[in-house]
Amino acid sequence: KPYIVVMAGGIGSRFWPYSRNNKPKQFLDILGTGRTLLQMTYDRFIKLSKADYFFVVTNQKYFDLVKEQLPDIPEEQILTEPLRRNTATCVAYASYKIAQKNSEAKIIVTPSDHLIIEEEKFHEKLHIALKACEVDFKLITIGIKPNRPETGYGYIQYHSEPGNPVKKVKTFTEKPNLKLARAFLDSGDFVWNSGIFVWKASSILKAFEKYMPEVAEVFEEGIQYYNGKEEKPFIQKAYSLVKNTSIDYGIMEKAEEVYMVMGDFSWSDLGSWLGLHENHQKDEQNNVVDANAILYDVHNCFVKVGKDKLVVIEGLDNFLVNESENVLLICKLDAEKKFRTFVHDAKSKG
Ligand code: GDD
Ligand code: MG
Repeated sequence: KPYIVVMAGGIGSRFWPYSRNNKPKQFLDILGTGRTLLQMTYDRFIKLSKADYFFVVTNQKYFDLVKEQLPDIPEEQILTEPLRRNTATCVAYASYKIAQKNSEAKIIVTPSDHLIIEEEKFHEKLHIALKACEVDFKLITIGIKPNRPETGYGYIQYHSEPGNPVKKVKTFTEKPNLKLARAFLDSGDFVWNSGIFVWKASSILKAFEKYMPEVAEVFEEGIQYYNGKEEKPFIQKAYSLVKNTSIDYGIMEKAEEVYMVMGDFSWSDLGSWLGLHENHQKDEQNNVVDANAILYDVHNCFVKVGKDKLVVIEGLDNFLVNESENVLLICKLDAEKKFRTFVHDAKSKG
């Protein structure tokens, strides 16, 4: 059975103020299904593996949340990070630990903030990737057909090999600018990187040695400390030594042995309010309304306000209205790029 490494340490700032530093979006039931995004991720992968094979990597302040939401995972497999060092570091931590148990183990790395419908098709693709990753050094990513020039994703160009579901990747470009993203989309030659990766422990360790030797050096030194009481102090030190780099920039863009399996299931990165709006049930005016609201001439909006308040709105199009705890945010529904500023400026206001 493959190991499942769930990356759950992001802060989800583009979902502010609903997603907070003390409870980011992966720990929220943002679709109103009764399961949080983290739990939905678990549900999606448990059928391919088992609870003992899960590792959840997250910031130390979310340890209790993970434990509460995923009670079946062994506690020592909730790996806690003292600092935010992005996904390359997160993957390194989990991979070196798994490699110590079994260097030939297969690993699926997954984000914790995606929505995937058509789970059977999804599992089919993963089986193909799991088979393909048996070859030494191969790094496999699941690709997604793009439908807009999204600049928040990675773009993959691949060799078309008719009949082979596993395509060799030509180029991997993480978060291109809009002009480039448009060109990629128009060419029809590119797919998005889903951020779901499949490889053997030994393959990803080799990639760290080759493309991020400074990270490999730090984590190799720790092998003797893993699973003992010295693991925590070692990790504390390791995280202070490595740079903040995502796996996409650090390895996927550079590596040669990258392959892509095309995902034909419906996939969405619930990265922002707009993304959530797209995937949510809407009323006849294309509004998502999670509030006690009276709306006049309101279209394409996302209104989410605690039910203890009556919301009355007139004449809005394409807006977000969200009140979470002590913050009321009203902004364009597609103001994604401005959220860092919102969060930053709000902090200075207390
Ligand atoms: N443990 C841990 N530590 N997890 C982290 C950290 C960290 O420091 N930073 C982010 N994560 C988690 C997030 O919670 C999320 O589940 C996942 O890692 C991916 O991080 P994002 O920050 O959401 O990445 P992205 O969306 O900008 O880009 C990635 O995903 C896209 C598709 O959704 C890339 O892989 C892109 O290439 C890809 O297209
Ligand atoms: Mg994301």
